[in-house]
Amino acid sequence: MSHTLEANAISYAYEAGSDVLRAVNLSVHGGKITGLVGPNGSGKSTLLRLLCGLLRPQQGSVMLDGRPLAAFSGKERARMIAFLPQSVNPAFSLSVFEVVCLGRYPYTGVLGALRGQDLEVARRCLRDTGTEELHSRDFMSLSGGERQRVLLASILAQEPRLLLLDEPTSALDIHHEAEVFELLRRLAHQGYGIAVVTHDLNLAAQYCGALILLSQDHTVLASGSPGQVLTEDKLSAAYGAVIRVGTHPFAGTPLVAAQPMGGAQ
Ligand SMILES: Nc1ncnc2c1ncn2[C@@H]1O[C@H](COP(=O)(O)OP(=O)(O)OP(=O)(O)O)[C@@H](O)[C@H]1O
Ligand SMILES: [Mg+2]
Repeated sequence: MSHTLEANAISYAYEAGSDVLRAVNLSVHGGKITGLVGPNGSGKSTLLRLLCGLLRPQQGSVMLDGRPLAAFSGKERARMIAFLPQSVNPAFSLSVFEVVCLGRYPYTGVLGALRGQDLEVARRCLRDTGTEELHSRDFMSLSGGERQRVLLASILAQEPRLLLLDEPTSALDIHHEAEVFELLRRLAHQGYGIAVVTHDLNLAAQYCGALILLSQDHTVLASGSPGQVLTEDKLSAAYGAVIRVGTHPFAGTPLVAAQPMGGAQ
């Protein structure tokens, strides 16, 4: 069964009177990758926290398969939705394999024993993210990009149906970044619904079926296909800068670059 997570006209303010999201509509569907893009501080991470239930909107609603998200228990939500935060700092020392096994907690309980099946899932997720060789390393000893791939393995081990990923490739080199987006494409083909925040508009154009562009005023400035959203007018308005759009030489998708102030390009 395909699952759907929907935000209906949600607004949120951390402090009364200063909205960081205003009347945002968004849906995450099984089989589809939706990209959330926009300038720093526009509300992308806040939006993912609202979609996974870490925060509750002050206005509007978040619905999972037509039921309010708040009506699901924490464990039910964790089996359906996995959230990869923008940064994670574990407070204690764990091996890579232990970090990935933590993803199994919705099935075992935090102190529950791992079964053979749980270990098999964890190993598969290490393979899928190309982190098998890091298996026994202390998580804290990894590079930023290695950590990011291990954390992705950990939330995949949760075997959710919907993935909410906050800048999952921000620390990755261009090869690993493309590998992760290819993995997301395969997962979407398997039926996963994926929302991914990224600042890489060119990869977003190549891999996302739909984009939501948030602007500095915390509203959705545009949504639709990459071709509809990634236009010079819309991007320049969202970022408050001169943004140029061409065509990717291999992929044929929009190719985006900011024009430096005073630049003659
Ligand atoms: N816990 C918090 N308390 C108060 N304000 C916050 C909190 N978290 C975020 N904000 C503010 O809310 C706004 C939106 O932040 P958010 O992290 O959602 O932006 P973002 O689009 O993810 O930005 P970036 O691209 O830099 O990650 C910002 O102005 C930020 O300073
Ligand atoms: Mg963010």
